[in-house]
Amino acid sequence: MIHLKVTNLHKRFGGNHVLKGVSFEVNGPELIGLIGPNGAGKTTLTNILDGAIKPTSGTVYLGERRIDQFPPFEVARAGLGRTFQVTRSFRRMTVLENLFVPALALGHARGRADLTERAMEVLEFLTIDHLRNEYAQALSGGQQKLLELGRLLMLDPDVIILDEPFAGVHPGLMEVIYAYIRRVNDAGKAIILISHQMDPIFSLCGRLLVLNFGDLIADGPPDEVKNDPAVIEAYLGAEEEETA
Ligand SMILES: Nc1ncnc2c1ncn2[C@@H]1O[C@H](COP(=O)(O)OP(=O)(O)OP(=O)(O)O)[C@@H](O)[C@H]1O
Ligand SMILES: [Mg+2]
Repeated sequence: MIHLKVTNLHKRFGGNHVLKGVSFEVNGPELIGLIGPNGAGKTTLTNILDGAIKPTSGTVYLGERRIDQFPPFEVARAGLGRTFQVTRSFRRMTVLENLFVPALALGHARGRADLTERAMEVLEFLTIDHLRNEYAQALSGGQQKLLELGRLLMLDPDVIILDEPFAGVHPGLMEVIYAYIRRVNDAGKAIILISHQMDPIFSLCGRLLVLNFGDLIADGPPDEVKNDPAVIEAYLGAEEEETA
């Protein structure tokens, strides 16, 4: 049973208090939307959860294990994976080789034939199997997002955080990403989806977390959260600043 428990996380960058005591739990294969205005702390929270940075204080447990002091590869091995808001790939490797790397690094691979078969399945599902021998750098922005999702699938984590998977993605590819999220969730994985686009958030997620200036101001079903005065205020406030 998946159990992620985040307790009283704080993060300060110098004088900038970016996370102010964030607590929440993920129980089982939930599909959770994490939303909030620019600079709210969503990516920072993700960076702490995947071990890229350490919290100033607070704890993160995945199952029985405390993971907030783990380096990223140990977090990945413990079963939590993420994609990046700004896509990362091994640009001078082929698409297929890109899929091999994380699985090899974590020792998931049983044999080359096995790995290739699994990688081809993943690429077919993501509709980029015809690109398997292209260098990653030749892919479009949207295709690179798909490649990153594919790398994650090769690791098969229990908890997946997707940081803006739809940003800059062609509408045709959005459908592929929707299907990916549904399939991975149906397979029993928990997903935290970060997006500024409300259509995918409301059509996919059964629960929403709202961050605003480092405070978790709402946690509940989308219909409740949508009508929460504090959430409306956070978004209207952000809009007023933008138009000011
Ligand atoms: N490495 C860092 N050093 C200093 N400040 C940082 C660092 N990373 C993030 N911040 C600051 O932390 C705050 C939260 O940033 P973060 O990227 O987590 O927001 P976000 O919710 O992901 O925003 P967006 O929706 O624009 O992606 C911002 O004020 C940002 O400038
Ligand atoms: Mg971000």
